[in-house]
Amino acid sequence: MIGNKLQDLQDRKEKIMEGGGQKRIGKQHEKGKLTARERINLLMDEGSFVEMDAFVEHRCSQLGMENTQAAAEGVVTGYGTVNGRLVYVFAQDFTVLGGSLGEMHAKKICKVLDMAMKVGVPVVGINDSGGARIQEGVDALSGYGQIFYRNTIASGVIPQISVIMGPSAGGAVYSPAITDFVFMVDKTSQMFITGPQVIKTVTGEEVSSEDLGGARTHNTISGVAHFMSPDEKQCIEDIKTLLSFLPSNNMESAPVFDTADDINRIEEALDEIVPENPNKPYDMKGVIRLIADNGEFFEVQAYYALNMITGFVRLGGRSVGIIANQPKVLAGCLDINASDKAGRFIRTCDAFNIPVLNLVDVPGFLPGTNQEYGGIIRHGAKMLYAYSEATVPKVTLVTRKAYGGAYLAMCSKDLGADVVLAWPSAEIAVMGPEGAANIIFRKDIERSDDPAGTRQAKIDEYKDRFANPYVAASRGFVDDVIVPSTTRQRIISAFDMLQGKRETRPAKKHGNIPV
Ligand code: HXC
Repeated sequence: MIGNKLQDLQDRKEKIMEGGGQKRIGKQHEKGKLTARERINLLMDEGSFVEMDAFVEHRCSQLGMENTQAAAEGVVTGYGTVNGRLVYVFAQDFTVLGGSLGEMHAKKICKVLDMAMKVGVPVVGINDSGGARIQEGVDALSGYGQIFYRNTIASGVIPQISVIMGPSAGGAVYSPAITDFVFMVDKTSQMFITGPQVIKTVTGEEVSSEDLGGARTHNTISGVAHFMSPDEKQCIEDIKTLLSFLPSNNMESAPVFDTADDINRIEEALDEIVPENPNKPYDMKGVIRLIADNGEFFEVQAYYALNMITGFVRLGGRSVGIIANQPKVLAGCLDINASDKAGRFIRTCDAFNIPVLNLVDVPGFLPGTNQEYGGIIRHGAKMLYAYSEATVPKVTLVTRKAYGGAYLAMCSKDLGADVVLAWPSAEIAVMGPEGAANIIFRKDIERSDDPAGTRQAKIDEYKDRFANPYVAASRGFVDDVIVPSTTRQRIISAFDMLQGKRETRPAKKHGNIPV
């Protein structure tokens, strides 16, 4: 008797493991895509995955669904470990009804989110779906609504990572959009609210689905995605790396690694990295690599708003979020996209107890009607807001320019930086010498017999007096002016000192960040 029951259980499980069948699995592989189960196996430590709800079935009896069986309801869910740490996962199975989301499919995802919240661990959601299951109508819509709601409640409590490994269309895109990080795979993943067909009908515009919503589009133009991988295997490796920088939940710290890199390492190259000519660019990523443990920098949004650099490093084995101006692009000016990118990243770090290191070389906000009409005022405000709101340890290093509002926006002392360091090449002032001389010495220049000479003399005078770190240091806005080659040591020592930092904010429902 028990033998029959065991056989029955095995038969049922085997059927479920087949997903949508060999033919559809073959089609999936032909497209360069793995199946839901293959993806989970790559992500999780070997043998650690525990599947839940494999026997869940849909309840739809319309449009032929009464005779349709959907293995595991088109989504594989469960938990397991990634590099030894517990993670919940769901992976939509495109081979089963196109991974479409119906009532019970959604319930499975909701259970993953609820359980991950209960035990305080990250969720990795792998999306590969034709969207709302058409046959299930409003029940499918309701399912999406329940997921969005949970994504929002879980935001800032557990890390939520969305992985797009196929289509993600219509309102379905909003679950990934609410989560902390969005990974996409080049050429095999697309996200859009309305597809090419609808666009053609409504506006007459013709666009391929790849150009409209492929990984490149969302990594370079829209900023919706944070990572782009050449294939699924690399994507899963990147997810594991990201998880290694994050704590399991907002009550914990990120794991500490023994990186074996000397915390007192002196980097002479840093003494030479800033060019003599203040208008000559240099690569801030070079600075980051020279400071970081083993030169490793895991960049976030590497292809978007290149004038702003965001990402993770380890310093003395601890996770640190980097927010840095890139003098190589737009001279490191802050613009709308850079502000959005930085504002979001600062909040991600703060939510998950990851200290931030701000590397400043910023001549100001990018001028122009495009920026003003686009709302640089409210976008730039996000950075000021995010830094002021953040209670994690905040260390700022000014390498060169730090002018005006942009100086404040890159986490000055007044926005709560705990430690501000500057290199001797720093220029901290209300505005650059050329602009300042033109305004405050305008009358002297106009009245002079030699306007050009007078102008240059006034610029030089202003430079001598203000284009240095010592005025700010004399007021205590800069804690110390340091030898660049000692930067790693000084920054690690600052973060060590700040480990016990406790800062509270007034109780409130929530703040109202400008969006
Ligand atoms: C039910 C679906 C489905 C869906 C695909 N399938 N999408 N079943 N509901 N939404 C099924 C197909 O019938 C097919 O079944 C199998 O999945 C694979 O689909 P194909 O079309 O053969 O695959 P492919 O050629 O790769 O095209 C993939 C696709 C296309 C681009 C995703 O299927 C498509 O356009 N689907 C509809 C997308 C859509 O409009 N969804 C609703 C969006 S609105 P068989 O049995 O043949 O294998 C939405 C609202 C969400 O999602 C709102 C939230 C607030």
